[in-house]
Amino acid sequence: MDILHPDIENYLMRLLPARDEILSEMERLSEKKRFPIVGPLVGRLLSQMARTIGSRRVFEFGSGFGYSAYWFLKGMDGQGQVVYTDDEEENARWARGFFQRAGLLSCLQIEMGDALEIIDHQHDSFDIILIDCEKARYPMAYEKAIPRIRKGGLLIADNVLWSGSVIRPSEDPSTVGIQKFNQLILADPQLFTTILPLRDGVSISLKL
Ligand SMILES: C[S@@+](CC[C@H](N)C(=O)[O-])C[C@H]1O[C@@H](n2cnc3c(N)ncnc32)[C@H](O)[C@@H]1O
Repeated sequence: MDILHPDIENYLMRLLPARDEILSEMERLSEKKRFPIVGPLVGRLLSQMARTIGSRRVFEFGSGFGYSAYWFLKGMDGQGQVVYTDDEEENARWARGFFQRAGLLSCLQIEMGDALEIIDHQHDSFDIILIDCEKARYPMAYEKAIPRIRKGGLLIADNVLWSGSVIRPSEDPSTVGIQKFNQLILADPQLFTTILPLRDGVSISLKL
């Protein structure tokens, strides 16, 4: 199921200003490798959120080759730090290359392994945490993330409408994980959450 009508999505895509060379190359790589990234519509939202709250510290559960991290850094004028996590060395190699070329490698703290363990070893709190790892583990990522976000910070998650599969009961672990996650973020009194039906669905939760 398309979340947005394809004509609307195409219209929004056509309105977008051209991306810089690094983002354009990442988008081509994503298409070539069929690797999932948040894409430019959500990427711009990430940048906008980072700028709106004056973010300086971001943690990502699942960074791939750094596309979403790059958008966050654009919203922080290259001044902040993104903790990059991924469990595939090849993705980190791509990310290093892209960020080196952009002169932003020093803004990326690259951590390899399971993001749900890596966050336990981070000392500070974060302005924004993005969840974009295995969907079945979104509820666990939520549990780990909430205490690590400062008041006024944001928990953002991608794919929360999961091609529409969330609307029906399911036994698929990814769908169940996202359904549970959506219930948690809407019921949590520490959060004020909005789910935007943009691309595959993105949630924005403000920590109160
Ligand atoms: C959807 S992609 C991330 C895309 C990235 N957020 C972007 O938009 O550019 C998910 C990535 O998370 C990684 N991943 C999945 N589960 C993970 C985990 N528990 N810890 C670290 N990385 C994980 C996968 O290898 C994959 O590269």
